[in-house]
Amino acid sequence: MENKHITLGEFIIENQKHFKYSSGELSRLLNSIRLAAKVVNHEVGKAGLVDIIGTVGETNIQGEDQQKLDLFANDVFKTALINREIVCGITSEEEEDFITIQGKTNSHRNKYVVLIDPLDGSSNIDVNVSVGTIFSIYRRSTPMGMPVKKEDFLQKGNEQVAAGYIIYGTSTMLVYTTGHGVNGFTLNPAIGSFYLSHANMRFPENGNTFSINNGNYTHFPQGVKDYLKFCQAEEGNRPYTYRYVGSMVSDFHRNLINGGIYMYPTSSKNPEGKLRLLYECNPMAFLTEQAGGKASDGYIRIMDIKPSTLHQRCPIFCGSSLMVEKAETCMKKYL
Ligand code: AHG
Ligand code: MN
Ligand code: MN
Ligand code: MN
Repeated sequence: MENKHITLGEFIIENQKHFKYSSGELSRLLNSIRLAAKVVNHEVGKAGLVDIIGTVGETNIQGEDQQKLDLFANDVFKTALINREIVCGITSEEEEDFITIQGKTNSHRNKYVVLIDPLDGSSNIDVNVSVGTIFSIYRRSTPMGMPVKKEDFLQKGNEQVAAGYIIYGTSTMLVYTTGHGVNGFTLNPAIGSFYLSHANMRFPENGNTFSINNGNYTHFPQGVKDYLKFCQAEEGNRPYTYRYVGSMVSDFHRNLINGGIYMYPTSSKNPEGKLRLLYECNPMAFLTEQAGGKASDGYIRIMDIKPSTLHQRCPIFCGSSLMVEKAETCMKKYL
């Protein structure tokens, strides 16, 4: 009950104590994300009333049709971070290259970079199904005082300082970690503030929900097919329930609360998988582990992968630890 009165703003400041020698830079950065989330939430809520649904007629670097809301959300998060001169660089699913931020007052003196999927679940915008935003924060790895380099963005997920998502759902929530567990905040739209509603979120060790785009079944590797057969077998607490929204954030959020596994494996259609290592897999993997779950590419820990390109794709299996371990066992049989 007590928790319900803590706002996200207060929580961020209170948690600054976890960071020795903190200058408050990360807190200000998280507050910028909180603000941008409210702006995007407001626009998402009006989709259908204003001219914000549909495509812009352009494709992004991923080869996907860009939706108006993809670009709107990208601009809002970029502007919030650039105007406050709070980070030294940004890279986004919707941008071909990374953006360097010098700052008017402090030449390349900020220490964090932000990696973002501004609008996750684009294909769900037009049909009023939940979408999200995913963010990931690292300390730059190159020396301060110089423009950021690509290598600042190509760090292993293991180096993340913070990560989180916003889900624009039946209620809007911001869920994040700074490496000290996972906490979820629900937006009270009447007041315009996020309140702590889900303290210390934990993946149940086991679950009974599996999420995957089963339309790709014939293209999946045999290990995935074997695991799907296991999920559907009549034994113990199986068959599991199958649920797939098609917005990773929404599928992940449901599994985090109820227990479950989310999978986007390789397939003969997408030999590298579909989801982006930097903008989707790493931040969700950090949240997963901080919530006591597991995140793997089927063989190794997602956060141990050394990225080589900004828009690199990666297969992912994440969620309740026992479920991910079982999926890995199925995959490793065919190594
Ligand atoms: P985005 O909208 O940011 O491009 O991400 C789409 C991703 C993810 O949200 C979702 O889980 C997955 O793509 C859905 O892909 P399929 O339609 O291939 O199942
Ligand atoms: Mn996209
Ligand atoms: Mn996405
Ligand atoms: Mn996106």
